[in-house]
Amino acid sequence: MSSFGPPITGFESARLRIAQLKLADARELAVAIERAVAISAQSLGVRRVGVFMLSENRRALDALHTVGAPVTEGQRLPLPLADWPAYAAAIDERRVIAADDALEDPRTRELADSYLVAHGITSMLDVPIFIGGELWGILCHEHQGPQRTWTEREIDFAISVADMISTLFEQASRLALEKELHVRDVTSTKQRKNAALVQLGAGVAHDFNTVLQTIMLLAETAARTGAADARESLDLIREECGRGSRIVRQLLDFARATPRSMVPVDLAAVVTSMRGSMDALVGEKVQLDVHASDAAVIEGDRAQLEQIVMNLVVNARDAMPNGGTMRVAVTEDAGEARLSVSDEGEGIAEDVRDHIFEPFFTTKGEEGGTGLGLATVAVIAEQHGGSVSVEPAPGGGTTISVHVPRRREGVV
Ligand SMILES: Nc1ncnc2c1ncn2[C@@H]1O[C@H](COP(=O)(O)OP(=O)(O)OP(=O)(O)O)[C@@H](O)[C@H]1O
Ligand SMILES: [Mg+2]
Repeated sequence: MSSFGPPITGFESARLRIAQLKLADARELAVAIERAVAISAQSLGVRRVGVFMLSENRRALDALHTVGAPVTEGQRLPLPLADWPAYAAAIDERRVIAADDALEDPRTRELADSYLVAHGITSMLDVPIFIGGELWGILCHEHQGPQRTWTEREIDFAISVADMISTLFEQASRLALEKELHVRDVTSTKQRKNAALVQLGAGVAHDFNTVLQTIMLLAETAARTGAADARESLDLIREECGRGSRIVRQLLDFARATPRSMVPVDLAAVVTSMRGSMDALVGEKVQLDVHASDAAVIEGDRAQLEQIVMNLVVNARDAMPNGGTMRVAVTEDAGEARLSVSDEGEGIAEDVRDHIFEPFFTTKGEEGGTGLGLATVAVIAEQHGGSVSVEPAPGGGTTISVHVPRRREGVV
């Protein structure tokens, strides 16, 4: 570390300590979260801190990991929507609740009689925890004693702790999935390879995130020195962080390519509803033709199907730097729904075509491709019981199609 500039603050080193928590097995999750909660409690100087999970019907909070016993672990705290509508609404809106005066704050004063007064809580800092993009629970800091004013730095810190807790949960579920695949003694090489890749993606993303935290920390420290000639390096650092975080996002998308909810979805409707985003993505030089008028219902995960469309559309756009027409079509044949994206680019050379589904294979060196787009498409297609095919498009260019079996009536 550098020997100049102000020392690393308590928050920064706490962030690093949490970012460095790493699971080797899903069973280590509880201990890791307890440590994260304890570090947060210590850094913010709050004795009572807890991770609460929203119950399935969203009417209760289950206490999972606590320090200073906000409630006994495993206990259920009713979240009576009727009695605590403002608190429930704030949670639903996914906002941070930083209540300096918890007894008077409109979002938390409903809890006064049944909860706050009994425990001597005067100020609260509650941060939503998201898992897989869904609101999962809350990280609650319950301050006792004289009221306090939560500073922006404290709030930012609490948000980053909640983010890291959700990363831990996601890591654990990937590890559990991996183990399940092992237990089932999966023999297909392809599936084994995918399971390994899921783990690889998750691991690399986690480590990379730690690197980013370190770079950010150095940048923050340097920024505080205020030296004018440091600005150029700081800009570079920030740029690199931006690039790094894009890579992390793609890695995480890839590692998360595990269907969360398989429900009947109309692939044609998915594509039609993405028209706006596709237009924005392809830019002005490319003309976009979408043919998706007939319903094609499959069992699928909507968010992941959208990811397939996005990845194929971005590739087709990249294949036509000088413009052209891109055709996106959803059709259905007897047993399958087919999504195809065609471009008028140069096509794919044979020696490249053999590798395009391999993770991290990319020919887009300078523009910064990660090489995970098609690998993700292949994993998602496979998890939907389908496949991906590549063929030259009529008149030049490439057509990449995803084939997914149609939903059979009456079969759930
Ligand atoms: N429509 C296409 N036309 C020509 N080449 C393509 C097309 N789609 C994919 N490729 C080739 O396949 C490679 C891998 O594609 P993939 O989407 O996996 O990664 P990427 O686009 O390079 O990076 P990322 O999608 O992660 O940003 C590309 O680098 C490109 O060489
Ligand atoms: Mg791509």
